[in-house]
Amino acid sequence: MTQTIFPNGPILGIESSCDDTAAAVLDADGRILAETVTRQIDHEAFGGVVPEIAARAHLALLPGVVTRAMAQAGLRFADLGAIAATTGPGLIGGLIVGAGYGKGLAIAHRKPFVAVNHLEAHALTARLPSLGLGAAFPYLLLLVSGGHCQCIAVEGVGQHVRLGGTIDDAAGEAFDKVAKLLGLGWPGGPALEALASAGDPKAHLFPRPLFGRAGCDFSFSGLKTAVATVIATYPAGALPRQAAADIAASFQVAVAETVADRAVHAMAMFRENHPTANLLVVAGGVAANSVLRAALLAACDKAGFRFAAPPLKYCTDNATMVAWAGLERLRAGLVAEDLDVAPRPRWPLAELAI
Ligand code: KG4
Ligand code: ZN
Repeated sequence: MTQTIFPNGPILGIESSCDDTAAAVLDADGRILAETVTRQIDHEAFGGVVPEIAARAHLALLPGVVTRAMAQAGLRFADLGAIAATTGPGLIGGLIVGAGYGKGLAIAHRKPFVAVNHLEAHALTARLPSLGLGAAFPYLLLLVSGGHCQCIAVEGVGQHVRLGGTIDDAAGEAFDKVAKLLGLGWPGGPALEALASAGDPKAHLFPRPLFGRAGCDFSFSGLKTAVATVIATYPAGALPRQAAADIAASFQVAVAETVADRAVHAMAMFRENHPTANLLVVAGGVAANSVLRAALLAACDKAGFRFAAPPLKYCTDNATMVAWAGLERLRAGLVAEDLDVAPRPRWPLAELAI
């Protein structure tokens, strides 16, 4: 049985690594007391997240977001047992704002500060008690978001093995780029999925990059180029709606089949070291895609794995996962001099191992 070393009270979590300014409060057992998030919309006009705009928005929004979370939880800072913030990987401006704010609160109120790795926070979300997913170590995580695309063996707190990842674009990035080519707004994934529902997934046979190849690396740039080539056969601005829907549906099924194939390889690799393991958890915004989910579910069925997907609001960036990862690290006794931890735009999971 895990012994709770810390905290002696609730934990505040802060997330600011990309374009969501979020705070959450959990009690010492991981029950959710409060969640607040402000999704920055100023980036829409630019068709993607602009780091400088994001950093300034975090600075403006964070005090209000944290104050609202504390009010929702009915707590004062003095009541907290610890404060956790994402310190990497991510956009450095936002990380500096969130980590600096969290550290300031920790110093002012004499609380332990937990530096949380954003990828570990995604990885441990499946263990959040209120989700009821029953994710005991070890399990396999497939993280497919706008910024990340990787397969991770989650073996314990601070113990993660990256089995493979993208060698170019992340899956969400591919959705966003193709959506842009189709003249859809940003973020493109949801709009592309909506358009694809009216299209024929067999209209174009787009490449399935690395399909069947050993390992579980991903690549999407060749697929994106193939889509761009088809779109370029139409005069600029004259892509008929049905043709666009057919392209969207054909692209979407290519991504789903590619990711499912990579997941099959990841499950086999994972089983080599963990013969009795049988859980695949998916996280990241692209996990919202129903065609991808169906393909992953079928792949898991075949491989004898259980497929678990946290509700979407916990698949995408949120502060509950940061607070929860903070709790897990405290319980595991893995928090030392975290006030000295500097924000890091790059922070591979392998470097968490001690
Ligand atoms: O995890 P997330 O909210 O943010 C980070 O990237 O960290 O993921 C956002 C990504 C975007 O690229 C978005 O286009 C994609 O997830 N996405 C989707 C869908 N919903 C969101 N991609 C495909 N189908 C969707 N339904
Ligand atoms: Zn994320």
